[in-house]
Amino acid sequence: MKRIGLITSGGDAPGMNAVIRAVTRSAVVENIEVYGFLRGYAGILDKDYKKFNYSDVGGIMERGGTILRTARVPEFKVPEVRKKAADNLKDLGIDALVIIGGEGSLTGGKLLSDEQGIPVVGVPGSIDNDIAYTDMSIGVDTCLNTVIDVLQKLKDTASSHERAFIVEVMGRTSGYIALMTGLAIGAEAVIIPEIPTDYDSLAEKMWEERKRGKINSIVVVAEGSASAYTVARHLENRIGFETRITILGHIQRGGSPSAFDRILASRMGNESVKSLIEGEFNVMIGLSRNDLIRTPIEKVLAEKKSLDLEIVKLANILS
Ligand code: F6P
Repeated sequence: MKRIGLITSGGDAPGMNAVIRAVTRSAVVENIEVYGFLRGYAGILDKDYKKFNYSDVGGIMERGGTILRTARVPEFKVPEVRKKAADNLKDLGIDALVIIGGEGSLTGGKLLSDEQGIPVVGVPGSIDNDIAYTDMSIGVDTCLNTVIDVLQKLKDTASSHERAFIVEVMGRTSGYIALMTGLAIGAEAVIIPEIPTDYDSLAEKMWEERKRGKINSIVVVAEGSASAYTVARHLENRIGFETRITILGHIQRGGSPSAFDRILASRMGNESVKSLIEGEFNVMIGLSRNDLIRTPIEKVLAEKKSLDLEIVKLANILS
């Protein structure tokens, strides 16, 4: 292994820079060159890259976003486009590729490897925590901290005005961010794609809590379940008290990574290089019971990560 490529791809996530740093430094100390391609797969197609030395990745761990920039590249679904990417990697003498990203990015990597024989290793980076075979993806912890911070502020206003707030969070088709946020801030309810919502009993619960003296109500909605506007329409008539809507949007993806994300990113970045050196290709690095594991990307993509239903119950008991 003489030269590796590195991309961040798909939605950015806090901690991606810490992975770039860890991959680069772990490779350079083993005399492996690192080429960082800009804007994910687009940079491979354009041969747009930077060669990274040890000191090039200094001072980036604490920065949000990704210094390699990122992009969603739909044309990568076309086999001829993937062939061009593989030809470019071969021209540049790249022996293997580290892909930091979510499901779509890992799918691109798997195809590059299956069709074109490019060895790849994946590092799960996505705020959604919807990737199987890892307890946590990079960026999730920071995202939750951001969302909790904002919701705590909304709770102040909800209490002052005795209002209900319907807050929409990201997560694609997963309710993970909504559920964990609901648990961490004591929301009245979380509305998630994994579980159908009974608006009559939710409205009743909100009324009961008002009667018990609670002056704020927070309902967290996962974007993959319903829009905050739809939920507000369902609830407003039933509960009869003032409702406001907040859609958090891309604020959830930025910011300096938490300690957890920095540590996870450093460990996973290092492990991805170890995996390449040991000749274990086409795997994704994951976290399981605080150990790092390597799982074939094919297996990762074949499985949908499910939510822990015990946590759903717990959120309901404690709210
Ligand atoms: O996958 C991360 C994510 O932020 C999702 O939660 C969200 O649905 C999507 O990306 C938004 O994508 P974009 O930034 O392309 O609008």
